[in-house]
Amino acid sequence: MRKIIIANWKQNPGKFIQAKKIAGDIKKLTQKLTADVVICPPAPFFPAVSDSKRFFLGAQDVSTQKEGAHTGEVSAFQLRSVGVSFAIIGHSERRALGETSEIVAQKTVAALKAKIATVLCIGEKERHNDGTHWGVISRELHASLAGVPRAFVKDLIVAYEPLWAIGAKSAMKTEDIAESVIFIKKVLAEIYGTKAAHSVRILYGGSVDASNAVEIAGAGVAGFLVGRASLSPKAFAKIAESLK
Ligand code: PGA
Repeated sequence: MRKIIIANWKQNPGKFIQAKKIAGDIKKLTQKLTADVVICPPAPFFPAVSDSKRFFLGAQDVSTQKEGAHTGEVSAFQLRSVGVSFAIIGHSERRALGETSEIVAQKTVAALKAKIATVLCIGEKERHNDGTHWGVISRELHASLAGVPRAFVKDLIVAYEPLWAIGAKSAMKTEDIAESVIFIKKVLAEIYGTKAAHSVRILYGGSVDASNAVEIAGAGVAGFLVGRASLSPKAFAKIAESLK
């Protein structure tokens, strides 16, 4: 299974010229690495990233609709037409704005139909000693994949991001990440069968940095979804290096 690292720049950096510089430096520093590299900049900065063959270009969201009177929305087909081949969908920062799993499922179908690989984000808000979080993860995954046909699963990636570990001081404990990856595979197998479930790359996201990447890479993950550290080319390249 090919390893993959995805940069989620969120609403950063401030200017196009800065985006160009970061992308250029990441390109230089990741030239010899084997993992797939995806950069998801804010949409106006797509050209800063799309001129490099080193990266895949990713969007941070897609519309549920194909086209029409939907002010402010951008469809998966429109994104595809400017070279976008990945999309982050259902990030917790969008769910916090009211995006439900039902909407996330519609967006996932829209992206996959347009042949955009979907990085579906899921994760619990908190961990409970009694294991309640497993039910939360399972329900969120089932609901976010409602109506997504098995034929599309080959282009599906799941990013496991426990909410309390995003933008935090430290990442989740490695053994807990390993356990979550196994659990997510089990839920995917319930939905799509074992074979299809095994083709899905499961990533970890939440405070991945240059100091913890090697350890987390050993937790059975197929890669990382990286926020803050993806704006620092040196840190990002070091994280990418851990994915052998
Ligand atoms: P972080 O963000 O790496 O800054 O914790 C991860 C994410 O939000 O995807």
